[in-house]
Amino acid sequence: MKRASPRNLFYGDCLDILQSGQIGRESVDMIYLDPPFNSKAKYNVIFGRGEDRAQTEAFRDLWTWNAEDEDSFARVAQGDDRKLTAAIEGFRQILGPTGMLSYLLYMGERLLLLRDVLKPGGSLYLHCDPTASHYLKILLDAVFDARHISNEIIWCFRGGGVPRRAFARKHNVIFFYSKGKAKAFNPQYMEYSDASKKLVESRGGVSIDNTARDLERGAHMTDWWADINSLQTWSPERLGYDTQKPLALLERMIRASSNEGDVVLDPFCGCGTTVDAAENLGRRWIGVDISYLAIDLIQHRLADRYGKKLLEKIRVSGIPTDLAGAEHLARRTLYNITGSEPQDLDAAWQMATRAGARGEKHGKNAGRFEFQRWACSLIDAVPNDREIGDDGVDGILLWPDREGANPLRGAVQVKSGAIRPDDVRALGNQLNGAYEAAILIGLREAGGDTIRRICARKGNWTHAWTGKRYPRLQVWSAEAHFQGKRPDMPQPIVPYTKAARAALGKQKPML
Ligand SMILES: C[S@@+](CC[C@H](N)C(=O)[O-])C[C@H]1O[C@@H](n2cnc3c(N)ncnc32)[C@H](O)[C@@H]1O
Repeated sequence: MKRASPRNLFYGDCLDILQSGQIGRESVDMIYLDPPFNSKAKYNVIFGRGEDRAQTEAFRDLWTWNAEDEDSFARVAQGDDRKLTAAIEGFRQILGPTGMLSYLLYMGERLLLLRDVLKPGGSLYLHCDPTASHYLKILLDAVFDARHISNEIIWCFRGGGVPRRAFARKHNVIFFYSKGKAKAFNPQYMEYSDASKKLVESRGGVSIDNTARDLERGAHMTDWWADINSLQTWSPERLGYDTQKPLALLERMIRASSNEGDVVLDPFCGCGTTVDAAENLGRRWIGVDISYLAIDLIQHRLADRYGKKLLEKIRVSGIPTDLAGAEHLARRTLYNITGSEPQDLDAAWQMATRAGARGEKHGKNAGRFEFQRWACSLIDAVPNDREIGDDGVDGILLWPDREGANPLRGAVQVKSGAIRPDDVRALGNQLNGAYEAAILIGLREAGGDTIRRICARKGNWTHAWTGKRYPRLQVWSAEAHFQGKRPDMPQPIVPYTKAARAALGKQKPML
């Protein structure tokens, strides 16, 4: 970072962000990472509640061995870090060229870079589950040295989902390492059991070994945590991001391994639990995520929790701030679909978005909808994955009708190539009973009399609540957004679940 900002959000692959030097060497006091676990699952974001509930894939945790992995294997094998090389070569002998090896390579490369940005003595907490924890511990030993593990924390939780032929899998593993000799640690305390309390009270404040016990302060916290449950569907803290972790869990680690004003980094920050906890505890923070939905949701979360004004104090990098940035995102999205650099954006978009093409997976994190999601977020539309087959609607707008009534719906389609009259006609043909109106979002402004005529022919609709009239069909663009223009429509309902306001007085204001 050129000028250190106390609050930083980066949209992108943490490998690229770490390699770019945007996070200074040895500038971070504590890292918490909750990366994909190789769980072979897809994770969603849930938008809205009740009948308007919709879900969209946020990220995938599916791993297969492919040509790119041979390149990263060669890179690591020829790299300077002999211990990491040895670990990866050993894994290859055990696992062969498999999805697990691909995952471990991915993690190994990122852990090396994380070590570089961590201050000497700083702490790293890696959160995972037993799918890969045994391998990840070896990776951490290789990167941080086996002598520098402080704890293997077992986080126990309850909840549904029980396998038929095994014990219920109800714990995660959090490895706590330091870079070199660990800096000071702030001990955390937990309540004594009722039996211990009774015993100590009956013995006038001492335990069976005659040493004093401070019942008010509590007992030194152990390395197995069963007092914080995972977020259940009904939990008020839940924001609809499938892998969201409880704030209490993050607050415990942040309190233990950092102090006010310290820098906390989460390179896989999801819906922002770490940055929320860090904000609340007066730490500086850096969050990185490859999913636009995550970055967008975090900004809504922080605005709900700490007030909209906080957004002005957050430096967000990687999100388009001008037309060139939007075009770059469109190109990156196409790369994620096709696996090759698009020469002609228009032709590439036509080809890539043909039926079926979007179902293909390229790379680790598909990222095939990033441009569409960004474009939808500009007007608060709920993004919609085409995989569910809905005739090319990329997003849904929800407008309040009357008090208590189901919202009215608008269809959004996104295109980064040129917008042709046929595209506008095709979207217009979808205007049926399900949608009041439709908006086609392009990269650049699409003028032209033909397009204007096609839109005008569809006429207007009247928003019964306000009595105002709006066009049924319109074309809007990223270019118009950067010129400060909005589509002609009622104010949509914000699609994310609202986060509860943070408890006042806990946080110490930073800058
Ligand atoms: C398990 S979730 C983290 C959840 C988070 N702890 C929370 O409480 O919300 C993992 C996150 O890593 C992100 N991710 C996956 N690959 C990434 C990468 N290469 N760089 C940055 N983020 C990535 C995913 O988009 C996802 O949001």
